[in-house]
Amino acid sequence: MRIKYKDKKDTFLEKHLVSREPFGQFKAWFEEACGRKEILEPNAMCLATSSKEGYPSARFVLLKGYGKEGYKFFTNYGSRKAREMNENPKVAATFYWEVLNRSVRIEGHVEKLSKEESTRYFHTRPVPSQIAACASFQSTPIESRDILCEREKVLEADYLIPGKEVPKPDYWGGYIIRPRAVEFWQGQRDRLHDRIKFRKPKEGEVPDGKLLHQGDDGWVFERLSP
Ligand SMILES: Cc1cc2nc3c(=O)[nH]c(=O)nc-3n(C[C@H](O)[C@H](O)[C@H](O)COP(=O)(O)O)c2cc1C
Repeated sequence: MRIKYKDKKDTFLEKHLVSREPFGQFKAWFEEACGRKEILEPNAMCLATSSKEGYPSARFVLLKGYGKEGYKFFTNYGSRKAREMNENPKVAATFYWEVLNRSVRIEGHVEKLSKEESTRYFHTRPVPSQIAACASFQSTPIESRDILCEREKVLEADYLIPGKEVPKPDYWGGYIIRPRAVEFWQGQRDRLHDRIKFRKPKEGEVPDGKLLHQGDDGWVFERLSP
């Protein structure tokens, strides 16, 4: 289990940053990942939450939008992750694009998207996905798959009618992660991996231009040891 990562001439140096703030840099790496057909779901990210007792849990979700304001995903507001984010809005999310030997780590806090934005997105989903969202009380125990299929059948009878819209359930919607740190990791063959982390500066912290660099839009960045 020792695959070859990038070699010496493929290093990720500060001069290779396409942006001095994390969103521009994320866009460049994300678009490159989207352009690689071997990466079937470049938008899959592992989202970590934790309960108020401090127990962490992690699962994959799909990134459905990003920009200077943050990273968006959609889920069931009654799910375990949603309960945990209610109790503790601090989260982390990680992408891994194996064929590029790259990973991005995000840390921040979540806020719910507006009902209007969630509804707009809900109706862009394929109708069977809309019905599935209505049929599932995500993360709650269920006796059998048959019960789910039964619920699906009832909903299909109600809504698979031309001109009829599946109403977005109140228990389904989106979140935005507002980041306070975003790290860009690129693996190297010699295991001297490259890590450049953008973060918001601590109060009174002044970049010295050696360990800590001034970025744009109030961000600073630093290189971390692999
Ligand atoms: C690649 C992948 C993408 C997924 N995307 C989502 C998603 O966007 N939203 C979602 O609620 N669940 C998604 N899931 C399912 C979740 O991983 C998880 O099973 C579900 O959200 C319940 O998690 P929870 O009990 O921790 O709340 C995805 C799973 C995989 C493997």
